[in-house]
Amino acid sequence: TLVPVILCGGSGTRLWPLSRKSFPKQFVPLIGNKSLLQLTLERVAPLGPQVMAVAAEDHRFLVADTFRQARVEGRLLLEPTGRNTAAAMALAALAAKPDDLLLFCPADHHIPDAATFQATMRQGVVAAEAGAVVTFGVVPSFPSTAYGYIRQGTPRSDGSLKVAQFIEKPDAARAQQLLLQGDTLWNAGIFLAVAGVLLDALEKHAPDILASCRAAMAAVQEETVGSAAARAVFLRPQRAAFEACRSQSIDYAVMEKHPEVAVVPFRGQWSDVGSWNAVADLTPADAQQNRVIGQGFAHDARNTFIHAPHRPVVALGTRDLLIVDTPDAVLVADRSCAEQVKDVVALLEKAE
Ligand code: GDD
Ligand code: MG
Repeated sequence: TLVPVILCGGSGTRLWPLSRKSFPKQFVPLIGNKSLLQLTLERVAPLGPQVMAVAAEDHRFLVADTFRQARVEGRLLLEPTGRNTAAAMALAALAAKPDDLLLFCPADHHIPDAATFQATMRQGVVAAEAGAVVTFGVVPSFPSTAYGYIRQGTPRSDGSLKVAQFIEKPDAARAQQLLLQGDTLWNAGIFLAVAGVLLDALEKHAPDILASCRAAMAAVQEETVGSAAARAVFLRPQRAAFEACRSQSIDYAVMEKHPEVAVVPFRGQWSDVGSWNAVADLTPADAQQNRVIGQGFAHDARNTFIHAPHRPVVALGTRDLLIVDTPDAVLVADRSCAEQVKDVVALLEKAE
């Protein structure tokens, strides 16, 4: 059976001040009135009735509420602290049956065409059942250093392509070079693999991470919450064992090293809503490329983004600005600096 697993433990600091530690971006109603987690759950639930999520203990009620509203029964793995995606995926693989087909999906992506998404995921099933770790590739549009790159190899008999090389977050020069080669795709961050296959791959490339997660899951605590109509199961790996785990993303820990990786191109609209520029790009623009959410008002301005859900915010004569208003903090940044918001947040945290 196919089991969707939503990874929702990220802290999303590049979307500060809307995204906070206590309320990260995947829970914020960013698109229409829905959160990215809610939209993700609606998109994956038709692929498999039992959905898992891996999230921070602190966010258990935010996640459980989302599942309740969508009327999906969830198994929620709760991490005492984040140890990045290799560990999060290992926990899910250990909680699943060895022959379950796990579809790992980030909670914070915007993929508006659910039908294309579901059809593409199903295209990966044969390759995954044959023992490959399947990734999904998006046609790159600029030399981003925030994504993994996939060099496509020869076609496999199951309709997917071999992955000739997986390069996680190359530097700017290498990204430029990979883009010019023409045979590369961005890694969409979605993975499909049989649980046992993923565990074998972790055993081979990151045995210490797997050992920590095994120890943590050997003493897992289960708690059922909610009523019969809307139930969720909280699964808590043992704290000390999990805290001892090395923190590394699956991309570095496994994908760059594993020989048996396949890719299925994803042709629908896809956005890692990673920074304010990405949110701005999802917001309709006026003739001067200004984009406003809520009570923003851009006058005589160009390429200015205003997020103002609570009160009027006016930008007059501005160029290339990001303005994000929240009740207790305001961001004003040049649009070229969107990726650096996380560095400033780190500085603020240090100063506290
Ligand atoms: N449960 C849990 N625990 N989830 C986590 C953790 C963790 O410790 N860390 C990250 N996640 C979740 C995030 O919430 C997100 O949904 C997903 O895992 C991916 O993590 P990111 O931190 O957003 O990764 P990234 O965007 O830098 O890079 C990945 O995604 C890109 C596409 O968006 C890589 O897979 C890249 O290769 C890929 O191009
Ligand atoms: Mg991301």
